[in-house]
Amino acid sequence: MKVVRLRLRLIQEILDDKDLNVKVLLLVRDPRGVMQSRQHSTFCQPAPDCREPSHLCADMISDYVAAGRIQQQYPDRLMVLRYEELALKPNITTYRILKFLRLSATQSIDEFLQSHTNVEVGDAYSTFRVSQKVPFKWKYALDFNHVDEIQIACKEAMLLWGYRMAYNETHMKSKDFNPIEDYTISQ
Ligand SMILES: *[C@@H]1O[C@H](CO)[C@@H](O)[C@H](O)[C@H]1NC(C)=O
Ligand SMILES: *[C@@H]1O[C@H](CO)[C@@H](O)[C@H](O)[C@H]1NC(C)=O
Repeated sequence: MKVVRLRLRLIQEILDDKDLNVKVLLLVRDPRGVMQSRQHSTFCQPAPDCREPSHLCADMISDYVAAGRIQQQYPDRLMVLRYEELALKPNITTYRILKFLRLSATQSIDEFLQSHTNVEVGDAYSTFRVSQKVPFKWKYALDFNHVDEIQIACKEAMLLWGYRMAYNETHMKSKDFNPIEDYTISQ
């Protein structure tokens, strides 16, 4: 199942149920990328918890805390991943996910990766993308004032999840600015 915007702490009950034997993959994304992606979506606009960076980032902090707790309790049943890692390295990351799920790779998975991560076909909801180009589109699509508003509201969440701040417009748009850095989930 793919579930969108469900808080990780609410998964606890499902993990506690031994009969279900569920594994959970938490996918996190840079709040600046999330806000840029939601900018044009009509489903999101009326809801403050969707549109307000402070709501989004409070959720990210809540998920970070829950991830530490759950990883301690069920080390092999929670995998945490940043969306940017998946987009930049779709193949390696997909293999890591398969290993976590104890599934073997198949030819059709390889074919899917090959065909869906290297070409762009269709609209914003297409699954055929040049994956490398997607995660940092916000650097060019958002103006710095908006980015800075998000950064101010999201300072703590970004620090926890390993997202670097842009200092100014020039820095934000420069090729040398890598928005992601290492992070650890502390328990
Ligand atoms: C993807 O990664 C796997 C595991 O590291 C490797 O065996 C496979 O050859 C890779 N495929 C491509 C297209 O790079
Ligand atoms: C932007 O930030 C960088 C890094 O802190 C700094 O070196 C540079 O002088 C700043 N540029 C402007 C126009 O403020």
